[in-house]
Amino acid sequence: MFCLRGVRYRDILDIERLEIPEGKVTCIVGESGSGKTTLLRLLNKLISYDNGEIVYKGRSLKDIDSVELRRRVVMLPQTPPIFPGTVRDNLLIGLVFSEKPLVGEEKLLEIMEMVHLDKGLDEDAEKLSGGEKQRLALGRVLLMDPEVFLLDEPSSALDEDTEEVVIGSLVKYAGERGKTVVMVTHSKQVARSFSDKIVEINHGRVVSR
Ligand SMILES: Nc1ncnc2c1ncn2[C@@H]1O[C@H](COP(=O)(O)OP(=O)(O)OP(=O)(O)O)[C@@H](O)[C@H]1O
Ligand SMILES: [Mg+2]
Repeated sequence: MFCLRGVRYRDILDIERLEIPEGKVTCIVGESGSGKTTLLRLLNKLISYDNGEIVYKGRSLKDIDSVELRRRVVMLPQTPPIFPGTVRDNLLIGLVFSEKPLVGEEKLLEIMEMVHLDKGLDEDAEKLSGGEKQRLALGRVLLMDPEVFLLDEPSSALDEDTEEVVIGSLVKYAGERGKTVVMVTHSKQVARSFSDKIVEINHGRVVSR
């Protein structure tokens, strides 16, 4: 799905070769500061590489319009924003920003269940706990229904049991729909249980495993 060759970004990343398979779950692991977030940002064209090539479905990222790419490849940032308003507003805002059709109540409730968020759609989003806000933001990107999910530590604020349930249902959802997931995680348990491929980054380079 993504293919990287000789990709360099400043003195932060230097990736000789990396393939991200379509329809699979790829986990990115590595110590803090190793370049995991930078890699996701490159794949989402939020930053541009200095050398080499990143190809998405046979086309160079340089030839794909950023807006088009971000409709097909959606990134959940490490610290996702929560906007003033209700839970419903916060779920729908990703669709609004990407100019996709809005969805009905039933779909919103299905997503809330998937991210294990037992709150009303009309509740004030700013009153949610940190882990609840994280799941709300995950629900927002799920609704956007892209080809690829780039998830930057989507379960960092969750306890182990909730993490297992939420990531499990996310992976199931993606698998049933043939979606590609690229997920940064600190959790060895998550990487072991849910990934088809594990990529380890160390000081900006992919470590062969
Ligand atoms: N815009 C930037 N300008 C300069 N340095 C940057 C920039 N963005 C990231 N860096 C540096 O690049 C390195 C990798 O950062 P990155 O955020 O990709 O790490 P990470 O692996 O995601 O870490 P963490 O697990 O803590 O989130 C860090 O040393 C960071 O300080
Ligand atoms: Mg990071």
